[in-house]
Amino acid sequence: MSVLDLFRLDGKRALITGGSRGLGRAIAEAFADAGADLVLLGRDAASLQSARQDLLRFGRQVEILPGDLSVPAEAERLCQTALASFGPIHVLVNNVGGRRLSVAVEDQSLSDWQKLLDLNLTSAFVCCKILGKPMLERRGGSIINISSISGMVVGRGIYGRHYETAKAALTMFTKTLAVDWARFNVRVNAICPGGFLTDANRRWFSEKPELHDLFVSQVPMGRLGEPNEIGPLAVYLASDASSYMTGSAVVIDGGYTLW
Ligand SMILES: NC(=O)c1ccc[n+]([C@@H]2O[C@H](COP(=O)([O-])OP(=O)(O)OC[C@H]3O[C@@H](n4cnc5c(N)ncnc54)[C@H](OP(=O)(O)O)[C@@H]3O)[C@@H](O)[C@H]2O)c1
Repeated sequence: MSVLDLFRLDGKRALITGGSRGLGRAIAEAFADAGADLVLLGRDAASLQSARQDLLRFGRQVEILPGDLSVPAEAERLCQTALASFGPIHVLVNNVGGRRLSVAVEDQSLSDWQKLLDLNLTSAFVCCKILGKPMLERRGGSIINISSISGMVVGRGIYGRHYETAKAALTMFTKTLAVDWARFNVRVNAICPGGFLTDANRRWFSEKPELHDLFVSQVPMGRLGEPNEIGPLAVYLASDASSYMTGSAVVIDGGYTLW
């Protein structure tokens, strides 16, 4: 067997939250290319449908499930439906999240704070709890939480500190689960991306070019990441290639956090 065979995901089904666009979509593409069937969650049914149409070119099954994961009760319902309709799930990628609002703490409403923690943190708790339990029973699975370098360093030139707070908690949640679920052979790792040129970020940076220049000036590699540069790392963490790896928070940021 070649070492590259360890990276294959044939016979595995991966559920990716927020798999219709951005980094989640890039991960979906890499997973399908590596042989996995997919279940994609997102709010907008049309974007999910168009992602599905495109991803079918890899010849794998692609199921879609629309719904809002930032509402905990709905996240629970979505996970239960995913299991009942499309299970078993062997790989879970908790990818939904985002800063969404640049508001100073002194001006932030409690309800916004709570909603954004639900989006960035509680959604991952619910998905791990409901989709992770059958993995424990089967004695196998891989969970990848998409955290951020914002869980390690504070964003400059921007507010919305729910984001740093939630991502730091998501990284630590990853480590706690990795310990608790290691004996069940369920591995839990986090990816901590730096700045990536998703469509949303392209729009954000085109409206605020000064933020783009400030950000890039802090990246030793002198550029942002392309979404397809995250796929191979996710395949590694999902697959048997990383069979002895759990509780890691892998930084992929062009060196941003080194300076
Ligand atoms: N992009 C970066 O530079 C960067 C850097 C560090 C970390 N990250 C993290 O990487 C993850 C993905 O970021 P991204 O930039 O790729 O995001 P994005 O471009 O905004 O894509 C988000 C995906 O999640 C779905 N989604 C958003 N809110 C949702 C909700 N409430 N319920 C269900 N689905 C929802 C979106 O579809 P719908 O809109 O149709 O729901 C879409 O499929 C996030 O956790 C983010 O914090 C990103």
